[in-house]
Amino acid sequence: MSVTNIQAIHKDEARKKKWPIKGHIRIDKVRVEFGAVKHTAVEDTSLDIKAGEFVCILGPSGCGKSTLMNCIAGFVKPSQGVVTIDDEPVTRPGPECGMVFQQPSLFPWKTVKDNVGFGPLMSGQGKSTADSTARTLLAMVGLSAYEKRYPATLSGGMKQRVGIARALANYPSVLLMDEPFGALDAQTRSMMQSSLLKIWKEFKTTVIFVTHDIDEAIFLADRVLVMSASPGRIIADIPIELERPREADVVTSDLFIEYKKQCFALIQEESMRAFTNQNIDKAG
Ligand SMILES: Nc1ncnc2c1ncn2[C@@H]1O[C@H](COP(=O)(O)OP(=O)(O)OP(=O)(O)O)[C@@H](O)[C@H]1O
Ligand SMILES: [Mg+2]
Repeated sequence: MSVTNIQAIHKDEARKKKWPIKGHIRIDKVRVEFGAVKHTAVEDTSLDIKAGEFVCILGPSGCGKSTLMNCIAGFVKPSQGVVTIDDEPVTRPGPECGMVFQQPSLFPWKTVKDNVGFGPLMSGQGKSTADSTARTLLAMVGLSAYEKRYPATLSGGMKQRVGIARALANYPSVLLMDEPFGALDAQTRSMMQSSLLKIWKEFKTTVIFVTHDIDEAIFLADRVLVMSASPGRIIADIPIELERPREADVVTSDLFIEYKKQCFALIQEESMRAFTNQNIDKAG
């Protein structure tokens, strides 16, 4: 299946449903508490994320970013409130959400192609369809020549690209990315960011992307959400009005620098609070 075919699928779906694309997320008064002492990881959070939006989340370590992502993915059940995707409450992990983590968890015994084709194969598609989907996605992430390799023979950036291809192989309406480029060097990271934006443009999937890197968040996002120190809640929702497509030199523009100052001030304050709180044991 080519990129054009993917676009055709989206257009077809858009015709069938009035909503142009899927992946509308609503987080309604979600609160997450852990353990017998009911340690609050995420405090009453409400959010509406449009289908196809690219949202980045910034926040100090331990503030609940991954926990919130896990609620959207269905791995963590909120203690209170509800998450819906396209008006369906999330009760368990499902194929509508693809996930990419900081360390790509590829099957070391499977080739690159079989890693990417694993999801389609498990969802009942035949081997040849799974192979063809895997090849389309590997072409999109620029790894066609590596389809017969095993993960151990790839660089960190290549592994992460296989991880992205694998997460997209079930054509999810939501792509959740938890610090996916955190372990990469600056150059590879910048290349991955540009490549992700191109893939997102083709797929039109909703992306929620967690990062500690302010530049990365602003470069990628339609909206940057900033979370408070633990217990996490959204303290800022900043629309990023930089034109798309974005080139690497956008980081030198006045508007980019303005956004950066705004995010930096919020993050610095919250990181200090997080550091102080984590020294006083409130975790229970
Ligand atoms: N399964 C769990 N059981 C108990 N507490 C947990 C669990 N998962 C997370 N927590 C706690 O919830 C809080 C938020 O953790 P979370 O992993 O969501 O933070 P984070 O913002 O993703 O941090 P980082 O930026 O370091 O990845 C932390 O205090 C953590 O100890
Ligand atoms: Mg985390």
